[in-house]
Amino acid sequence: LALKVLQARAEAVSARSRELVGAKVVVAAAIVRDGLLLAQRRGHPERLAGGWELPGGRVEPGEDDRAAVARECVEELGAEVVAGEQIGPDIPLRADHLLRVYRAELVAGEPRALDHPEVRWIGSDELDNLNWLAADRVVLPALHDLLDPP
Ligand code: CDP
Repeated sequence: LALKVLQARAEAVSARSRELVGAKVVVAAAIVRDGLLLAQRRGHPERLAGGWELPGGRVEPGEDDRAAVARECVEELGAEVVAGEQIGPDIPLRADHLLRVYRAELVAGEPRALDHPEVRWIGSDELDNLNWLAADRVVLPALHDLLDPP
């Protein structure tokens, strides 16, 4: 019996370490229309409230990154997008999370602030002045290239 308990415990520990090693992915959408980028202001949680971000969220277990982008845009904006290529690098978030930004094309619906207090279409001249979340700030050069192709 003691051996069984030890084996079960060892299995639980290794499952936990697999979880810690495999970083969880958060995806976000860079939606551009008529030369403007869609950004949203967070209302929750408290530590992020007031910060601006690209719409997105956690990829669910077994879910494809691009499917997660589409799902999050329906949930947060009530709009349908098709996710394209990743822009910028993988960005480390807290310990075991990373952020991946995908270009996304709006295919149906007008984006509305369903989950957060405000969405706004941003021009390239306004990009640097927004109070972006730290992780989103990393992709600013790539976002500039999207809005003003070099
Ligand atoms: O909606 P869900 O709980 O899946 O995810 P979320 O709260 O929107 O995003 C998870 C975490 O990713 C947030 O707490 C932020 O720290 C981070 N995040 C970010 O830094 N930039 C984004 N554009 C989206 C999320």
